[in-house]
Amino acid sequence: MAVVNLNFSSIQFDPQHPHIEGAVFSERRLSDLSGYFADEDAYRRCLQDGNPVLYRVYSLEQWTGEGDLAYGFGVLMPGKVGREYFFTKGHYHAWRPAAEVYIGLSGSGFMLLEDETTHESRLLSLTANSVVYVPGCTAHRTINVGSTPLTYIGVYPARAGHDYGSIERDNFRKVLIELNGEPHLMDRSAYLHQLQKGTA
Ligand code: F6R
Ligand code: MN
Repeated sequence: MAVVNLNFSSIQFDPQHPHIEGAVFSERRLSDLSGYFADEDAYRRCLQDGNPVLYRVYSLEQWTGEGDLAYGFGVLMPGKVGREYFFTKGHYHAWRPAAEVYIGLSGSGFMLLEDETTHESRLLSLTANSVVYVPGCTAHRTINVGSTPLTYIGVYPARAGHDYGSIERDNFRKVLIELNGEPHLMDRSAYLHQLQKGTA
């Protein structure tokens, strides 16, 4: 008897607006990232000016078998809070060994990675036609340093899940800020110190 696998699929999408049938849509506004940006005064000022959408995610997670994959489209808006570029919340995978492949579609940005055990950080370019491999046990955040939406696809094991808790509590150890018109990676603690002294 022939086995018909209904999971075969091919989809066409518009990277800026990937409204895909069956995708679970989520949207994060500035107010959803309270406490994430280093410059709290700048954050309050941005909120008073409105509550912009920071990013949208369209996830295809209907496959649940062992060995299955899931994938999601991300659209991250350009902008800054103070000198810090807009970013996604960032997370570990609930199932820690789960790796992820990010494929850049358009725009200009980076992925900030942080190893859970060593706390080693990596900043890797994410632009059109680039691929970033995120190993397991690694927190990952997408950052837009351009002037247009940063769009990308992430592909991950279906059982990966999300663990937002540790990043929500401790955040990443590094921040990506604009310095003399260029992205500049620095220690969060040093940037917080500058903000406190008013020299940032
Ligand atoms: C899935 C994944 C991406 C992110 C998306 C939004 O594992 O890494 O699809 O979910 O970039 O970022 P978060 O989930 O950190 O708000
Ligand atoms: Mn992920």
